Amino acid sequence: MSLAASKRSRLILALDVFASRGSMGTICEHVERLLEELRDIVVGVKIGLPLLLSLGVNRLKQLIADFRNDYYMLADFKLADVPHIMERSLERLSEMRFDGAILHLFPMGYERVAESFRGKLGMYGVVLMSHRGCELLESSFDALLNYALKLRLDGVIVGATRLEAIKRARARLERTTLILSPGVGYQGGKEASALEAGADFEIVGRLVTLSANPRASVQRVVDAQRRALGL
Ligand code: XMP
Repeated sequence: MSLAASKRSRLILALDVFASRGSMGTICEHVERLLEELRDIVVGVKIGLPLLLSLGVNRLKQLIADFRNDYYMLADFKLADVPHIMERSLERLSEMRFDGAILHLFPMGYERVAESFRGKLGMYGVVLMSHRGCELLESSFDALLNYALKLRLDGVIVGATRLEAIKRARARLERTTLILSPGVGYQGGKEASALEAGADFEIVGRLVTLSANPRASVQRVVDAQRRALGL
């Protein structure tokens, strides 16, 4: 994510939930305005089912085309399927010009998938989620981390509410393997604390998308990141 250095930011914006519910056109205009306003300070955007199902594939493709030079485009469909379907899904996401995609690792068997997309589409494996109660993932943390290492993924996802897990992941992973941490703000993660624990990027959603002043909300998080990392 080379945009991080020039923007002096480690913030990825999750585009899921907006205060103004409305027609596809209204949501699209809202997202466009947000992306225009934040292009100098937000590194990437994370797009999942809520936005895809609100906009439809064609509108989403256009949005990606319009902003792909300004943002790292991360697809978050938390894919978890048999390997040949994973390959088809990742191909389609790549055709839509996403830069990276989030996948679950627990189905395993993804060696060939990882090999065929290496260098073409960033792959980020979920290792631990931010919400309380994800005990199955918690108990498999080491196994999932080992599997991410074995696949030589571009990065892993560890919730920003799990600082000890971020530290453990950082200690085990290569420095070049990114840790992306969602859960800052509404889920309780404090801005910059995931970075201080060793994460590379913080994913922030409602704190910004539901804010009356999104720019100010982003600025607060990024200022804390700059102080923490000396950016
Ligand atoms: P909020 O609004 O809570 O949005 O800032 C958080 C965003 O991040 C996603 N999310 C996760 N994704 N592992 C993931 O792969 C997680 O632990 C996790 N926690 C939150 C969520 O989908 C939303 O887009």
